[in-house]
Amino acid sequence: MTHSLLARQLSKHLPGMDSALHARLAGFLAAVGAAYAAADEDRAMAAHSLETMSNELQQRYKALQEELELKNRFENSLRAINEQLEGTISQLETAQTQLLQADKLASIGQLAAGVAHEINNPIGFVYSNLSTLEGYIADLLELLGDYEAQEMRMDEATRQHLAQHKERCELDYLRDDLPQLMQESKDGITRVKKIVRDLRDFSHADTGEKDIYDLHEGLNSTLNLVNNELKNRAKVVCEFSELPLVECSLAQLNQVFLNLLINAAHALDGKNGEIRIVTGHHNGEVWVSISDNGCGIKPENLNKIFDAFFTTKPIGQGTGLGLSLSYSIVQSHHGRMEVQSAEGVGTTFTIRLPVMQPAG
Ligand SMILES: Nc1ncnc2c1ncn2[C@@H]1O[C@H](COP(=O)(O)OP(=O)(O)O)[C@@H](O)[C@H]1O
Ligand SMILES: [Mg+2]
Repeated sequence: MTHSLLARQLSKHLPGMDSALHARLAGFLAAVGAAYAAADEDRAMAAHSLETMSNELQQRYKALQEELELKNRFENSLRAINEQLEGTISQLETAQTQLLQADKLASIGQLAAGVAHEINNPIGFVYSNLSTLEGYIADLLELLGDYEAQEMRMDEATRQHLAQHKERCELDYLRDDLPQLMQESKDGITRVKKIVRDLRDFSHADTGEKDIYDLHEGLNSTLNLVNNELKNRAKVVCEFSELPLVECSLAQLNQVFLNLLINAAHALDGKNGEIRIVTGHHNGEVWVSISDNGCGIKPENLNKIFDAFFTTKPIGQGTGLGLSLSYSIVQSHHGRMEVQSAEGVGTTFTIRLPVMQPAG
């Protein structure tokens, strides 16, 4: 094959060349043409392999990008999982502290019940001995009176000796003071008996078994127990109406009353704190409401307060278990528990219970 452009140029610039030269030139042209053709072929091949390489590189690049994206996504989800785990761990830590607290409270309750039980017996015989002693003292004083009446018959020396002795003993004062002393002791023992009974009633080894009880008795014994805690912070006002006896576990309901009363006391800060306990009944249902004029509950917290472990109190003060426990106790009595609260105004919790538990 000849190179056509070169052949045309040669025939233009070398007119009238002889046939021998023409033949040699034609050979030369053919060689040049072949060289060009080979070069074209090489170029096409190079271009082709360049294109293949570029395609391959592009594909590799794409694959790498995908890999990178996958890695990033993986990393992100790992980070999110990590954050979640950290949250869960800190939640678990709080839960553990709170469980320990709750456990401690339960142990204190058991301890209190045990101590109350132990004290009950000696207090019982001290009380009964006091009554007997009162009788004995009355008899002795009467007898002493009789002896005194006989003093006139004694000789002067004996009478004087007795008079001195009486003075040393301050017999007149003793006579006056003895009955008062006895009464005070009996009152004291009665108070101790009451505290012990309240303590026992309150933390009664609780099987959750229901019987027929007077709710006011439960409220009163719980109030007596927390009186000390409340009286420094609040005035307690009771407005009890006539209530029928209610089928319930009084020990469990006492827990509910206690939680509500302590929460109310915690909500009060400083002056003019008032806790109002109102009871009533209507249509086979009794209700107890416990109100305070304390800090109130933030609206966004109102639907969380019955959740276990929800507390706005510092660790050590709040377990976040009081209301959730109370809620489940009231539910197990087929009752309801309602809350109304306004920030800065106060809070009212109302418990409603059926007088009789539904059969079955
Ligand atoms: N009477 C109340 N006044 C204001 N806030 C209350 C009252 N009762 C309960 N709360 C809120 O409900 C939360 C949960 O109460 P509770 O379950 O008894 O747990 P705790 O008392 O241990 O915090 C309290 O931390 C408090 O924020
Ligand atoms: Mg509480």
